[in-house]
Amino acid sequence: MRTPFIAGNWKMYKTIAASREFAIKFRELHRRNDVKVAVFAPYPQIPVLVEMFKDTSIGVGAQNVHFEKEGAFTGEISASMLKEIGAQYCIIGHSERRQYFGETDKSVNLKLKALLAENILPVVCVGENLDEREGGIEEKIVEMQIRAVFEGISMNDAIKVTVAYEPVWAIGTGRTASPEQADKMCGYIRKILRDIYNKDIAEQITIQYGGSVKPDNAAEIMSMPEIDGALVGGASLDPLKFIEIVNF
Ligand code: 13P
Repeated sequence: MRTPFIAGNWKMYKTIAASREFAIKFRELHRRNDVKVAVFAPYPQIPVLVEMFKDTSIGVGAQNVHFEKEGAFTGEISASMLKEIGAQYCIIGHSERRQYFGETDKSVNLKLKALLAENILPVVCVGENLDEREGGIEEKIVEMQIRAVFEGISMNDAIKVTVAYEPVWAIGTGRTASPEQADKMCGYIRKILRDIYNKDIAEQITIQYGGSVKPDNAAEIMSMPEIDGALVGGASLDPLKFIEIVNF
């Protein structure tokens, strides 16, 4: 029922020229139409990628947005501005933004509402850090994040959201959560969504795993029943690696 969704988060990597090279190669390699695919690029690369992927099913997204429509917010970009440059998706609440840029569940909730108002599909990141995992409170932490982020979001809007479970200790470290650990948390997230909404809504929401997903572990991760996709960092920068993950 849920279509697998493989997303590449480029973070602050790739020039416009390098993005073009990626797009040319990836467009050529991509054949699968039973999997949703999107690339989340730095802002200046977005319109370039939108143009290069326009006759394909490959989506393009941003990595952050401001929650206000407009105003004196130096350095920020609104959801309508993202819409204008053709972004179809946007990541919010990534742990790097929480850690370095003061993102909170409250701001993620406001950003989620701003994106939905512009019909941009949100990818909401949640996940515990190493201390929280070692302290055995990972489910409590993720539950708090999910409940806060979905506050005031209608059922109709909730099904447009992708949740990405990214344990902070597995990001860029080469240390992946075991498929069982990842599946267990994705199942727990679905249980919370069932509690907030209902079974039918929870069953429709796509839940991705992110954290050191690579060509050699993608198939196993994707075989888990509660995991519907992957949010890929490092390995999404190389079209050959990313296509291998898409073809899991
Ligand atoms: P890595 O795949 O490089 O661990 O990054 C994961 C991530 O943060 C994706 O958003």
